[in-house]
Amino acid sequence: KVHRVACIPGDGIGVDITEAATRVLNTLSTVLKTFEFDFTTFDWSSKAYLERGWYMPPDGLDQLKKYDVIYFGAVGWPDVPDHISLWSLILPIRKALNQYVNVRPTSILPGTKSPLADCKREDLDWVIVRENSEGEYSGQGGISHEHSEHAVATEVSIFTQVGIERIMRFAFDTARSRPRKKLTMVTKSNAQRHGMVLWDKVFYQVAKDYPDVSTDKMLVDAMTVRMVLHPTSLDTIVATNLHADILSDLAAALSGSIGIAPSSNLDPTRKNPSMFEPIHGSAPDIAGKGIANPIGAFWSAAEMVRWLGETEAADGLMKAISNVTAAGVKTKDLGGSEDTKGVTNAVCKEIEKL
Ligand code: NAI
Ligand code: MG
Repeated sequence: KVHRVACIPGDGIGVDITEAATRVLNTLSTVLKTFEFDFTTFDWSSKAYLERGWYMPPDGLDQLKKYDVIYFGAVGWPDVPDHISLWSLILPIRKALNQYVNVRPTSILPGTKSPLADCKREDLDWVIVRENSEGEYSGQGGISHEHSEHAVATEVSIFTQVGIERIMRFAFDTARSRPRKKLTMVTKSNAQRHGMVLWDKVFYQVAKDYPDVSTDKMLVDAMTVRMVLHPTSLDTIVATNLHADILSDLAAALSGSIGIAPSSNLDPTRKNPSMFEPIHGSAPDIAGKGIANPIGAFWSAAEMVRWLGETEAADGLMKAISNVTAAGVKTKDLGGSEDTKGVTNAVCKEIEKL
């Protein structure tokens, strides 16, 4: 079976880690022999934008629809305002391809540790389910009197019953599939009195269909404290586009490094390709040095492979990653001394043992 993958390396370390991930994926298919990858690389990046004035061609989204899945590195570069780069590439893809769920698992890998004192590996095992299509990242609003001292800007969050209900059902299904069957819902419905209140209401409506899942509700500010002080009390977490974006960076840091955290942008209807990417950005501060941690990219690749139905390959890749970190082969952000290539070579070697 051939899986067609659209690859968008993007900017900065996005390029390094996408190259590393395709190497690992090719090694996986060569070793297992039960499937192949057919990669097509798209040079949609800030560098290309600065040269030619566009990120994606006008039919870019239609081109992507022809693939089984999309693998994404990162987008953003200091020479382009970040809201231009994000709104030219990653956000339009998520929205147009109906990728309304963003799944962000967090756990501490073997041979690594949390910066939290006394936090053992088994104490931190979370899945953050992020609403990925609306809310604070709806892109609605505007600015008036922009060039005067009376400038006024609005940033309108849009929350719909349909949008909230579908993310809640996905989150409850996720919670139900895990041993603890526990879902924590995050809002800020004390201060934000419309959209967040609807979010709360739909949560309790949907909860009635999942009596086997235990639930609790947190305000986002208190949630940051709970994640740090009582990590063991959490399992599956559902939050809005903005809140989950922030909480998942915190979660990644608590699990060891932002460099290991994966994400899946899913269209659960499977009518459009889903997209897999590490949660980190283009990291201009370390770009071009060959030292980016590729584990988040590999873990994202494993999630992609699982989505494609290749369970054995996904499990094999996760095992290879764990064996490598357990053996102490780690980049600097995890306290090791290897570079991107060293970790990639080690993961490929582990895959060859499968
Ligand atoms: P960032 O995630 O790129 O970097 C934050 C810090 O973490 C930096 O010190 C960086 O060196 C470190 N880091 C990140 N990934 C790492 C890895 N794999 N290995 C080792 N260290 C790693 O976030 P930042 O600096 O806020 O954003 C940089 C650019 O990336 C901006 O243009 C931003 O808009 C963009 N961005 C893009 C995203 C995407 O494409 N989905 C997501 C987040 C940011
Ligand atoms: Mg983020």
